[in-house]
Amino acid sequence: MGAETDPTATIDNELSALREAFLPRFRAATTEQTLRDENAKILGKKGELTRILAMLGKAPPEGRKAIGAKVNALKQEVEAGFETCLRDLRKAGREADLSAPPFDLTLPGRVPVALGHKHPISIVREEVVAVFRQLGFAVHDGPDVEHEANNFTKLGFPPDHPATDMQDSFWTKSNHLLRTHTSNIQIRAMTTLKPPMAFIAPGTVYRRDDDATHSPMFHQIEAFLIDRKVTLAHLKGVLAEFAERLFGPNTPVRLRPSYFPFVEPGAEVDIGCVFCKQSDGTRAGCSLCKHTGYIEVLGCGMIHPVVLENCNIDPDEWSGFALGMGLERIAMLRYGIPNIKLMFDNDPRFLAQF
Ligand code: PHE
Repeated sequence: MGAETDPTATIDNELSALREAFLPRFRAATTEQTLRDENAKILGKKGELTRILAMLGKAPPEGRKAIGAKVNALKQEVEAGFETCLRDLRKAGREADLSAPPFDLTLPGRVPVALGHKHPISIVREEVVAVFRQLGFAVHDGPDVEHEANNFTKLGFPPDHPATDMQDSFWTKSNHLLRTHTSNIQIRAMTTLKPPMAFIAPGTVYRRDDDATHSPMFHQIEAFLIDRKVTLAHLKGVLAEFAERLFGPNTPVRLRPSYFPFVEPGAEVDIGCVFCKQSDGTRAGCSLCKHTGYIEVLGCGMIHPVVLENCNIDPDEWSGFALGMGLERIAMLRYGIPNIKLMFDNDPRFLAQF
């Protein structure tokens, strides 16, 4: 009651209470932000001291000057207390930093970093490329989007060949398609280089196929050689060497007559089944080789004279062979992968096995 009649006494009481309280409150702050918040609660626009100052207007004029001086004095004390606490807090922070154990950048991480794995297709591609490089073949590259002439016509595909069908190929702009095989590189090489030549061409190819052993996008490697007097015996020699270096010594190789428009004669190549091979080298037969003991791995043949002529190479002077294999198929045989899709899901649990 007395406070209402004598605001000076109220102000005085509140000033004393605040003088007692502010320093312990500042000291309790453990971060610069909480210290600043506490300071704002006292000196801010709606702060406690600001409110007390506002009450000064109600005090009788005779006591106003003295109490005003007290308010100002407390304000300065609070400001000084804040500065001191801020300095102490910063100093303590610096000291904590300095006395903490040193930060060693060279220590190994605590969370182990999972290492990536080479994709089985990359592993197989590198191996096949290495085998042919050892045999003296260069490595060529070519575009995925190809003119139909390089993919079909110059390779001797008749215009109505089923492979050119809308159902089998991905056509893009006029007369262009996503190449259906790496044999387009044969034409590109023969029209730009002079024989003799020997190269391989790894690359991505595309067909409208989609099941457990076919994917619309897959990988092939083409091998190609032109020289004087090249015969089927050279092709067989290279195939035997390739099978041996990739699938192990004495891997049997068998050629079965087959048809590709750009080779004559053409053949499909089987190797001894890698799944049912016995310790003495014989094959017991299994479901994967359909109990034949052999598994198909690639297509090949002697370059058709018409293809040579299409590229202005004289078939009476030059001859050669070509072969093409699907890398997914080789990887599936090599590692016993049952479904081609596994190679494109990129599940780390699958990839970590190679
Ligand atoms: N290009 C053929 C295919 O994709 C494979 C092949 C290449 C056959 C070279 C013979 C010679 O099926």
